[in-house]
Amino acid sequence: MLQINPNLSDLVSDASTGLLNRLGSTASIIAAAPGRVNLIGEHIDYCDGFVMPFAIDRYIVIAGCTNGTTQARVSTALGEEIAVIDLTAPLQEGEPKWTNYLRGVIRGFQDRGHHIPGFDAFILSSVPGGAGLSSSAALECATATFLEGLLDTRLETREKALLCQKAEHDFAHVPCGIMDQFASAFGKPNRLVLIDCQSGEPELVPFENPDLTVLISNTMVHHELSDGGYALRRKHTEDGLAILGKASWRDVTAADVQTNWDKLGEPVNRRSRHVVGEISRTISAASALARNDFETLGPLMAASHDSLRDDFEVSCKELDIMVDIARKIGRNGGVIGARMTGGGFGGSTVTLCESRKASEIAATLATEYEKATGITPQIFASRPSQGAHLVQ
Ligand code: GLA
Repeated sequence: MLQINPNLSDLVSDASTGLLNRLGSTASIIAAAPGRVNLIGEHIDYCDGFVMPFAIDRYIVIAGCTNGTTQARVSTALGEEIAVIDLTAPLQEGEPKWTNYLRGVIRGFQDRGHHIPGFDAFILSSVPGGAGLSSSAALECATATFLEGLLDTRLETREKALLCQKAEHDFAHVPCGIMDQFASAFGKPNRLVLIDCQSGEPELVPFENPDLTVLISNTMVHHELSDGGYALRRKHTEDGLAILGKASWRDVTAADVQTNWDKLGEPVNRRSRHVVGEISRTISAASALARNDFETLGPLMAASHDSLRDDFEVSCKELDIMVDIARKIGRNGGVIGARMTGGGFGGSTVTLCESRKASEIAATLATEYEKATGITPQIFASRPSQGAHLVQ
């Protein structure tokens, strides 16, 4: 039942082959950037909160080379088309839509005064799209890393992540926080990327206990409402903060929300309760994990899911079903904690479990989920992996 993660070296060689077959070019630069999963701290990266994601061992790889022209010619494994992008002027949004992630990142480099030479590129991915695992951040970070190779320059990691976040804001119109691009850019093997989103400082926290396994369960549903839903949630949190008259969510207590419940009004009061609760849960979870206190960590993950479902309303039936199955397996069955991960409205859940029972747990999750929904999920284990880097 457990899917095998495609090997990065296989992806790299397939991307080179794709470049040769599709565009007739030989790869001289190959960049890779991973997706991410978040253990806890959801929908609070844009509220000065703490988040605890890690870079997964699923990557977007870009293989390419300069082509001596003033155009980028880019193709992917998902279709035959070759997108052509004129590089002589500052880039704007354009067609096909998926090129906007690249356009946004190229524009970020142009705005820093870089001249981008014409290039050919082929893109291959093992990050499932629409699964809440940040394939878009992976594409942005892979593009930025590819451009670093092309220009023979290096951005500071934080600057690179912020450039990619701006591309997501301006060219994909998702007002995301910093979690995804930071996880993809800063990820390291055996490390969680604990981010204080107020200071913007990531801390690499050891996560190397072989007895622990992180299972990612892709529900295979992606509800289209997500697009406006994300921006609306973000607005609710901004409204909440303004009503509370505070400069940062870090200055707000649970008592502040309770005292101002009616003034905040529906649904901003519940959204606010989520933010304050999730910030404190994430701080507690980080310290529980550091002392291997799984009896504390599990319930914190459960409370996070419930709050996202009831107060923040970004879960959906399928995510709840997957989490409920994990809960039923329970601590005796080897499950430490389970919750939805990422932006929600479909996508994936994360289940922290005992390694020796991981295959059995994955099998139960798959069977029971399919029984309940008629949908075959994708379930795979993931370990913290290397963030965006040049392979060649
Ligand atoms: C998406 C966004 C992130 C974050 C999560 C929710 O993945 O890109 O910035 O807000 O949703 O935690």
